[in-house]
Amino acid sequence: MRTDVVRLGRLYGERTGEMMRFLSSMRSDRCIADADVLVDIAHVLMLERQRIIGTDIAKQLLPALLELNSGGVPEEVFDDRFEDVHAGIESFLIEAVGPDVGGRMHMGRSRNDEVATCIRIKLREDLLKQMAALLKVREVLIALAEAHRESVMPGFTHMQHAQPTTLSHHLLAYEQQFSRDFDRLRDAYVRVNLCPLGAAAFASTGYPIDREYTSKLLGFEGLVVNTMDAVATRDFALETLAALSILMANVSRLCEELVIWSTSFVKFVSLDDAFCSTSSIMPQKKNPDTAEIMRAKTGSVFGAYTGALMTVKGLPMSYNRDLQELTPNIWRGMRDAKESLRLLIDMLSSATFDTDRMKEEAGKGFSTATELADTLVRDYGLPFRTAHNIVGRSVQKGSLTLESLEESAKDLDLGISLTGKGLTEDQITAALDVANSVGLRKATGGPAPFATKIAIADCKKQLDKDSALIDERLARISKAKEDVLADARRLVA
Ligand code: ARG
Repeated sequence: MRTDVVRLGRLYGERTGEMMRFLSSMRSDRCIADADVLVDIAHVLMLERQRIIGTDIAKQLLPALLELNSGGVPEEVFDDRFEDVHAGIESFLIEAVGPDVGGRMHMGRSRNDEVATCIRIKLREDLLKQMAALLKVREVLIALAEAHRESVMPGFTHMQHAQPTTLSHHLLAYEQQFSRDFDRLRDAYVRVNLCPLGAAAFASTGYPIDREYTSKLLGFEGLVVNTMDAVATRDFALETLAALSILMANVSRLCEELVIWSTSFVKFVSLDDAFCSTSSIMPQKKNPDTAEIMRAKTGSVFGAYTGALMTVKGLPMSYNRDLQELTPNIWRGMRDAKESLRLLIDMLSSATFDTDRMKEEAGKGFSTATELADTLVRDYGLPFRTAHNIVGRSVQKGSLTLESLEESAKDLDLGISLTGKGLTEDQITAALDVANSVGLRKATGGPAPFATKIAIADCKKQLDKDSALIDERLARISKAKEDVLADARRLVA
């Protein structure tokens, strides 16, 4: 098969293999090969319908394309002496059905609109898979949150024991982050699923093409209308990578916590052995490697995003070959995020949480001091700042007893006697009780079992809606695919 059908008219001079490989996008084009065949089929159907090519030509082109669709694109097409998979497939067709027929497929289009269309087709599928994986992560978090509504644990700010909370509350915080990640991908999808085909090189074409028709055949929700924009923009990819980067930042924070929680200082969690490795020298070691690798993959996804941004930032209108170098960043970012999410699902669901250890830590570091200050406010009418100062001074003294609170009030020259007001040791003990403190925090979104019960019900409702949206989008694109293939078969028959 000739690998120079595109250039042989205009350009002389042999290219070295090194040169051809340097310029070729073939390696990363593998993942858009199937999309390219679909785009070819839709394009040929449109050319025939608009009488730009004869039915006899379409009848010869389509069987070869349908064969590529059902049997897969043969290995010889992926020869990296082709500039790209589009040139590879066109050359294959010319070889298969002869130049008089095969040479007519590329009428009224360019690889510029072709590649942009292929990327969008592949990317929308990847987005839906990614969203489905996110749903599973959220599902696991919700199930864990449901099981741990009563499990108290320390909550932290500045990584210092701050106030007691519940494991349920902590996990639901992650669920909410992932739920917003889902929304960002959902929104990006809307702008990915638009069709650039028909833009040709950038100025569209003089043939009477029907862009709306090919767009519909390929399951797009509409056109990237301006044909210069259609070939020049990769903002849909940048937006996706930005959303993936934020998602991975959330994954990384969760992984960081799992790493910290599995240390012997903390011991809040034990990750399943399958997600850990040991040391080649220290036989006792159990290292949380999977969480560490995910933390690092986050950096790779940021790198993919930055790489893509850097590629476009200096480009004049419209298509520039630089754009070819942007594309692998999309697939790399997607792959790393997808693999991380898939493993995160099982790593989380197989983890064992040590609720006794959490409980043991929950009241440490005077973590219920706020509740004690609130008691002084509620029961004795002190201004909050005064109560805060008294309790703070008492913590400085090293204990929260009636005696030390009384002394603190005296130290601060407040002219207040807490015993005089009637404060008792029992009241202090009740205020400092962890379960009591958590139970009181039942405002919307708070850690109390009462509040997490409501939050979990809301999360489940949202999860069902999000899951229905994915099903609907998947059904639309697979129906479009079936339809376009059926149309092609009908024309051939
Ligand atoms: N391989 C190219 C890419 O990925 C396809 C478009 C090529 N266009 C061109 N004018 N050379 O962007």
